[in-house]
Amino acid sequence: MTTAPEAGRFHDALGPLRDREQVAGRLLESSAKHSFDPDRELDWDAPFEEGKWFWPPELVSLYDTPLWRRMSQEQRMDLARHEAASLASLGIWFEIILMQLLVRHIYDKPLTSAHVRYALTEIEDECRHSKMFARFIQKAGTPTYPVTRLHHNLARVLKTVSTTPGSFAATLLGEEILDWMQRLTFPDERVQPLVRGITRIHVVEEARHVRYAREELRRQMASCPRWEAELTRLGSGESARTMSLSFVNPRVYTDVGLDRREAIAQAKASPHRREVMRTAAGRLTEFLDEIGVLRGVGRRLWVSSGLLAP
Ligand SMILES: [Fe+2]
Ligand SMILES: [Fe+2]
Repeated sequence: MTTAPEAGRFHDALGPLRDREQVAGRLLESSAKHSFDPDRELDWDAPFEEGKWFWPPELVSLYDTPLWRRMSQEQRMDLARHEAASLASLGIWFEIILMQLLVRHIYDKPLTSAHVRYALTEIEDECRHSKMFARFIQKAGTPTYPVTRLHHNLARVLKTVSTTPGSFAATLLGEEILDWMQRLTFPDERVQPLVRGITRIHVVEEARHVRYAREELRRQMASCPRWEAELTRLGSGESARTMSLSFVNPRVYTDVGLDRREAIAQAKASPHRREVMRTAAGRLTEFLDEIGVLRGVGRRLWVSSGLLAP
């Protein structure tokens, strides 16, 4: 016969799992209704429109700096095009990391669960996104902008050894900041229709990814051992620093004829840019704070990344 405390434990053990299945079930339903094939959905043959931006000017790293004011309109628009390609390159890098994290996450999970099926659905989404971003970079006529060798290799370690909460904290960092910018981009009539289409598809599908990662991270932080929670705090702070350093590849500046060092210094000193990045991270940092990720050394790393106000 089951005693009361055992019954309690039984309930506690099933509670989060049932919740996990419910969340995944709803996400699977939404995926069945609202998923897009960018190859067919978007008009890739249409020429770019004269006078339209590739990225909203306010979201370009040098906006409102003394250097920006000296640049011609043509050079500003050229920088926006290169920064859009740089963000698309960053997006592909993140998504490839995320796909590996998801594959590792489900390796030990019940194979027929909705939770695993949703992870596989998310991987399908990310495959389409990465191909869409690559196709965009090619069409934009810019180079690709990989992250530095060091960050490339740091991520190689993270995606291979990170434990579950650390993986999902990194996932949210990659998804939510770009998501905030894309939500401003797709309704913006000053922006190229192709860029608006790409960001619209991405926003719709990423909303599910964010939900999945947030729910899992919340469960994990409530149940993981203390060392793992500490590691997640530290790891997410370090990822925030890496993210803010590699957000825009500085090669974009030389590629549009600017002095690289001056451009980096001005973007770094820009109050507008700081405000944009902090606001972009705002929803995420609020959530991470609520579930206990922004504490101790990890919090200090977040502050030094510039994404969190001291
Ligand atoms: Fe994506
Ligand atoms: Fe995603």
